[in-house]
Amino acid sequence: MITKRDIVAQIVGKAQAPQKSEASAFAPANIALIKYWGKRNSELNLPVTNSLSLSLSLGTHTSLQVATSDSCVLNGAECAPSAPFTKRLFSYLDLFRTPDTYFHIETKNEIPTAAGFASSSSGFAALTLALNSLYGWQKEPRELSILARLGSGSACRSLFTGFVEWQAGTRDDGMDSYSTALTDTWPELSLGLLMISDKQKPIDSRSAMQNTVETSALYHSWPEKVAHDLRLARKAIAEQDFCLLGEIAESNALAMHATMMASLPPILYWLPESVAAMHKIWKLRSEGLPIYFTMDAGPNIKVLFLKKDSATIQQQLPEILLQQ
Ligand code: PMV
Repeated sequence: MITKRDIVAQIVGKAQAPQKSEASAFAPANIALIKYWGKRNSELNLPVTNSLSLSLSLGTHTSLQVATSDSCVLNGAECAPSAPFTKRLFSYLDLFRTPDTYFHIETKNEIPTAAGFASSSSGFAALTLALNSLYGWQKEPRELSILARLGSGSACRSLFTGFVEWQAGTRDDGMDSYSTALTDTWPELSLGLLMISDKQKPIDSRSAMQNTVETSALYHSWPEKVAHDLRLARKAIAEQDFCLLGEIAESNALAMHATMMASLPPILYWLPESVAAMHKIWKLRSEGLPIYFTMDAGPNIKVLFLKKDSATIQQQLPEILLQQ
């Protein structure tokens, strides 16, 4: 089996001493419009399908300092060494450092952590960028995208701004599985968050994905659905056809959740308030307001709309937090 360490060795060579004593970086959070759901290789986070996302202006700031022992501060609070978050972070750093190197990490998310709001994507991307600077690797975005993927799949899309497509690739070592930015820009496109709950989700996306791939009778149709949706999403972006993009993104998110609901045991991230918000959005749409939603592995709703409608959206959904 090809391991994460094999890939790291291929990209940055043998672990070295850091070139600097401190480095910091920022990476944007990204929201998938066409989702990544299911891995073909869970060690290397290689996806079954391509996915397409939009990077937000908000994200994660991370600083990395060489220290005499490992420690971490997340959003101003000291992390317990035994917390899953801390362990995941330091085991990622283990891939790159020599055994006598320790780090003090300070990381600040501008968006809620681990509530299905994509903070792991910006977190691992920011950490990868900080490592690139600390070790002086001077790697290309494509290689950094591969390294960030080893931390969290969707993190490989957070190395870029704007619209980003992650190529699933076909190679066993995943050297062809990385993201690239689309050339299209769409400044009018806006995204808001309806925060339904900021509690830790009951099942993390990694386990939920695996459970879906292994047990859901609906999963076999997912790759075909993604291929179809990707074609239309690319067209909608190129032609700035908002209703087409919104329709496809919403349908893709609901289809992803449908595959989870059909798994054993079933996975349902939605809360009653999530469903109420969907109905509200559908009602506003039926009244003529162009508004769509997408959802990730959590109960929160991300709303897609155009900047020209911001005032109406804020009036109709006063609890919305504008992200883009
Ligand atoms: O990168 P992960 O393991 O947190 O998975 C992300 C999965 C979704 O957010 C649900 C979809 C996506 O493409 O971001």
